[in-house]
Amino acid sequence: EGAMSVGDFAKLLQREPAELIKRLLLLGVMATINQEIDTDTMELIASDFGVTLHVVEPVDEEALDMLVEEDDPASLVPRPPVVTIMGHVDHGKTTLLDAIRESKVTATESGGITQHIGAYQVEIADRQITFLDTPGHEAFTTMRARGAQVTDITILVVAADDGVMPQTVEAINHAKAANVPIVVAVNKIDKPDANPDRVKQELTQYGLVPEEWGGDTIFAPISALKRQGLEELLEMVLLVADVQELKANPEGRPRGTVIEAKLDRGRGPVATVLVQNGTLKVGDIVVAGTTYGRVRAMVNDTGRRLKTAGPSTPVEIQGLNGVPSAGDQFVVYDDERGARNLVEKRMSREKQEQMQNTARVTLDDLYRQI
Ligand code: GTP
Ligand code: MG
Repeated sequence: EGAMSVGDFAKLLQREPAELIKRLLLLGVMATINQEIDTDTMELIASDFGVTLHVVEPVDEEALDMLVEEDDPASLVPRPPVVTIMGHVDHGKTTLLDAIRESKVTATESGGITQHIGAYQVEIADRQITFLDTPGHEAFTTMRARGAQVTDITILVVAADDGVMPQTVEAINHAKAANVPIVVAVNKIDKPDANPDRVKQELTQYGLVPEEWGGDTIFAPISALKRQGLEELLEMVLLVADVQELKANPEGRPRGTVIEAKLDRGRGPVATVLVQNGTLKVGDIVVAGTTYGRVRAMVNDTGRRLKTAGPSTPVEIQGLNGVPSAGDQFVVYDDERGARNLVEKRMSREKQEQMQNTARVTLDDLYRQI
């Protein structure tokens, strides 16, 4: 735990390994370059070299193993794609989300009360598509900053009367950096001054070339306002998903990502999570960031109570002891004690890091004054 080889530690201290080995000998430790030394010894050596070492409590290795455990390829089954919508201001992202949601969700889920949980699923041709409701850019930046990749496909909305604008380019860059394929929705084609060809022309500069021009980007002309072309757009999204062969193991350890979370006055902490592997169940013990708890209730985007939620399902869960952050990964634990342990370790590490940051800031301030 927290151990490091003499060689690696020497690199960290920017010293020759031989120097370290000599010091270790003085401490009565016979060591080779590949030998592991513990954190206490590391601290001693570091102070010998006039360096103060802050040993940060490592995250439970077992917990990390659980997060990265590999699934047997035979256990993998297709899962719905997770889609975000991005585009320039006013190009129609919200209108499109609402249009898809209205025509696809409330129509098929009779009796359900549609509620805002930050993500929803629609059904098309007997298949599901999961949409993240958070503004695409935000979803990308906050999620990716935390190392979470949740999006499989991006719908890039470009208004046909306005063309490619700065945030269109930004969106393209986000998607490319995350290696997420783009389906272009050329929106507002109902407008008299709409010019879909201009959009295609402009996007070729960014490597998005339509199929009819020899490229491989799918363009779907739509009017989000008039509800035109939506079915075709969604079919295109499914086509792209097929190429990706998106899979998950419904029997694996449930894990996923927090999409958004808040403190609800009546229900306490509630978090919308996207299940990315395994099947989350009511009663499961979940660790999410620095929060944990037993899942007391799960609700989907149509207000329906669920007992289980499989891969690519967004659900709102109750039962955490605090409000996790968007982008936090969650994982199901077998026992509550292990869960609490991990969360406590993470919290103390976070505190330590904060303290170190404050210390650094004050030092910097000092130097600035000199
Ligand atoms: P931000 O959230 O501000 O970035 O904008 P947005 O991309 O979500 O755009 P929004 O959906 O709010 O649409 C902006 C305006 O364009 C609204 O007035 C919509 O009614 C209008 N609009 C959206 N789609 C269409 C369309 O297909 N045709 C026409 N004519 N207007 C549309
Ligand atoms: Mg909007």
